[in-house]
Amino acid sequence: MIPAFSCVMKDEVNILDICYGLGFNTLATLQYVQKKFPNKKINVYSPELDVSLVKSLKYFTYPKEFDAYKNIILALSKNGVYKDENIYIEIFLGDAREYIKNFTNKFDIVYQDAFSPSSNPVLWTKEYFLDIKKAMKSSGVLTTYSIALRTRLALYENDFNVYLNTGEEFRDATIASLKTLDGFEAVKMEHKISCNPQVKSLRDKELGVDYT
Ligand SMILES: C[S@@+](CC[C@H](N)C(=O)[O-])C[C@H]1O[C@@H](n2cnc3c(N)ncnc32)[C@H](O)[C@@H]1O
Repeated sequence: MIPAFSCVMKDEVNILDICYGLGFNTLATLQYVQKKFPNKKINVYSPELDVSLVKSLKYFTYPKEFDAYKNIILALSKNGVYKDENIYIEIFLGDAREYIKNFTNKFDIVYQDAFSPSSNPVLWTKEYFLDIKKAMKSSGVLTTYSIALRTRLALYENDFNVYLNTGEEFRDATIASLKTLDGFEAVKMEHKISCNPQVKSLRDKELGVDYT
């Protein structure tokens, strides 16, 4: 999250949060932005398939760091939308694959925080990242915890530059962007591919899905 904001210096930021879950990414973003950039406007768009999870968020016990967002959690849990002067959040109750097709050239930041490629592969395929690319601005950045070569390949095959996102307080992760990013170590994709020729990106066809 923080590296993504270091790459996006704008007064208004559109974020795609894949997927909402308990909303930790979104809430941590609110906390970070309000502390560091109190005048920035943020718009969060987040799909979530599990309707009952969203409806039950109002009963969930969040860490006390999120106490300030109780009204936001309540509104999202009840209506799927929250809006004030500086914040817009919408949760789309449905399939992320369908939802992302609604956007073109929209997002500055994408949090790719789906379940792992092995447990939820449809949110990690080459075709999925093509739709993500279309939904992103050319200056946008994507962050993900996945460091799997097949994830990075699916990004690389869609013309993303792929970087190592490393820091002392978190495990190594990936940051990707259609523009080149300063301050991040580039993953040497051609070298990785030549050392691992058997590794392929996930494909919709092999999963038996078609979102065209
Ligand atoms: C790892 S959790 C997301 C955690 C979340 N980012 C957070 O900060 O709390 C993955 C979520 O993806 C949702 N999900 C799985 N497949 C989905 C799909 N095709 N479309 C939308 N949501 C999906 C699951 O219901 C689950 O809540």
